Amino acid sequence: MLPLQLFAFCRPGFESECQSELEAAVIQKGGGVGGAWRSDPGYVVFKTNNPDDAAVLAQKISFNQLVFTRHLLVGDEGVEPLSPEDRLTPLCLRLESMATGVGPFSELRLGWPDDEKGRVLAPLGRALHERILNCLQQNNIYDPQGGGVRAEVVFLSSVQALVGYSLPYNSSNRPMGIVRLRSPHNAPSRSALKLLEALEWLTQPGNSHPVRAHSGQTAVDLGAAPGGWSWVMAQRGVRVTAVDRADLADQVIASKMITHIRENGFHFRPQVIPHWLLCDIVDKPRKVADLIARWGVHGWCRNALFNLKLPMKKRREEVLLCRARIVDTLSENRIPFHLQFRQLYHDREEVTGILRLGK
Ligand SMILES: C[S@@+](CC[C@H](N)C(=O)[O-])C[C@H]1O[C@@H](n2cnc3c(N)ncnc32)[C@H](O)[C@@H]1O
Repeated sequence: MLPLQLFAFCRPGFESECQSELEAAVIQKGGGVGGAWRSDPGYVVFKTNNPDDAAVLAQKISFNQLVFTRHLLVGDEGVEPLSPEDRLTPLCLRLESMATGVGPFSELRLGWPDDEKGRVLAPLGRALHERILNCLQQNNIYDPQGGGVRAEVVFLSSVQALVGYSLPYNSSNRPMGIVRLRSPHNAPSRSALKLLEALEWLTQPGNSHPVRAHSGQTAVDLGAAPGGWSWVMAQRGVRVTAVDRADLADQVIASKMITHIRENGFHFRPQVIPHWLLCDIVDKPRKVADLIARWGVHGWCRNALFNLKLPMKKRREEVLLCRARIVDTLSENRIPFHLQFRQLYHDREEVTGILRLGK
């Protein structure tokens, strides 16, 4: 098999956060000593000194523990330029060669970096998808029911692509880690998409502690205006107390499932314990983290889904610090919990956190 390297998709502009969390994970897993890192908008590559290490690291690093890494795969170096006359033949040969090491592929994905330069490659990738799939089928290295790894082809330019694979149980269930959602008709804000994606993330296959929003539940939404998150929950039959001094959009006010309270979210106390605390307040991340920890310690909710805004330079450090504040406070009070963070596709300079209280 060709020498492999670790390849990670991330949000353009967040390459250093992606690289530093992967570096920490690589060190923790004891692999990749002396390897070389490189990044370009939308992705990070780690070329291990020992070419076998990348495949081992892709198994050992827990994708669910990563925050800024959208999708993780192993790939060859893709250094040989592709001829614009025939890109198909060399890509098929490389996939065939890869299949001898990792078995038949369960799926084929074509990708490109999620930046301006990368997105122009999308038509090329889409045009080749069917033809590469035919080639996999003709060579008997495609078995959608076989539960094997996914074949991945990532175009870095019109004449450069890496060929690799991803592990379905330890990577994103979406191509390139991108969750494409249409803004629902009548949604009061684009923030609705953030919550829709977050709710999908919480029930993703492989999530060891799935939680679902469903009819009959209750939620408190701090920093609710204009009401996208409250509206999404109400659409699912969840009764919401929306806390914000600002006005809610008309369709949110009109919902019988939503009650508006004009109060400071940092001072609000629930009268009855809701299933969900939602918090999208724009404020210092540490202040929001302390608010979440306080709700957890007092048992004021069962799950807290919250957003940390990261306008600062040291964004990963800030997330780690916020995580530590919540973990320390809950641990000191012997509260059982699960805490996870992820920069969702619809998150911009921010990350989403989920705190599940209980064992
Ligand atoms: C990003 S917006 C929330 C968007 C909302 N999630 C949606 O889906 O429409 C942030 C909101 O936080 C509110 N906010 C800021 N500080 C607050 C506080 N201390 N208490 C309550 N709301 C606050 C702002 O008024 C603003 O409406």
